[in-house]
Amino acid sequence: MKVRVLGAGAGGGFPQWNCNCHNCHRIRRGQMNGTARTQSSIAVSTDDKNWLLFNTSPDIRAQLDAFPQIQPQEGIRGTGIKAIMLMDSQIDHTTGLLMLREGKPLDIYCSEMVQQDLTTGFPLFTMLKDYCTVNTHTIPVDGSSFTIPDIHDLRFYTQALKSKAPPYSPHRYDPHDGDNVGVIIEQISTGKKVFYSPGLGEIEPHVMDALQSVDCLLVDGTFWTDDEMVTQGISHKRAREIGHLPQSGEGGMIEVLNGVSHARKILIHINNTNPILDNDSPERKTLDAAGIEVAFDGMEIVL
Ligand code: MLT
Ligand code: MN
Ligand code: ZN
Repeated sequence: MKVRVLGAGAGGGFPQWNCNCHNCHRIRRGQMNGTARTQSSIAVSTDDKNWLLFNTSPDIRAQLDAFPQIQPQEGIRGTGIKAIMLMDSQIDHTTGLLMLREGKPLDIYCSEMVQQDLTTGFPLFTMLKDYCTVNTHTIPVDGSSFTIPDIHDLRFYTQALKSKAPPYSPHRYDPHDGDNVGVIIEQISTGKKVFYSPGLGEIEPHVMDALQSVDCLLVDGTFWTDDEMVTQGISHKRAREIGHLPQSGEGGMIEVLNGVSHARKILIHINNTNPILDNDSPERKTLDAAGIEVAFDGMEIVL
């Protein structure tokens, strides 16, 4: 299977339009060894033709423009996107649906909770009905498996995990199973597996089991420290408070991943404040030493 990273940035992207933090300031001026990143999404295929999109970023137009394999190949209208799976109902993971409104019926796979958010607090599904048909398919939150028509040779296992529903959601401070999910993507013919979870706040036992069972993991790389946005004077919000496990420190993502034996380890959904965006930073060297990679736009993983 092939995993194409369409966007490796967190909400706001990198650089963020109104941000003048150490990273955003330097990348705009060409003073940093690093690359810009669009907002969070990946695409997966086993035949380079039929793609399953995970999340739809507000940056989707640029992401599709940069990826010929997913563009129309035949007929007057077409796309390689055969279905879409949403990991949550966050703005950076769903707003791109508005850009796909010219599409044929959109087949969207998401949890019951995400369906609720996207028909009430942020009624994207309701709005899209007047542009194109939206076929919603409810995905399990207990780790059970399913397949998707047109997405050949792949099987999916989705499970609720602890992160955060969006600020607009009635569930922001009243968590429900399925506000956020993680997914194991398995290629049926080879048994190869990827775990994808761009929002991951807590490593529950079933998450650790998932991390241990896969060949490659793409997990929450939003923040280096819990107080990153506080110390930079950007926000009062701490990483854990908004559903993102920071990389450094006790119980942080690096420590967790050190306990995972054989998978290829990749961080994704990187916030613009995170020092790991600078390839020359000491924090990046720490990741290198731990065998942890940082996803970038256009990265392709073949398993
Ligand atoms: C998050 O992952 O916490 C969100 O992307 C924040 C946001 O939408 O700005
Ligand atoms: Mn996000
Ligand atoms: Zn910034």
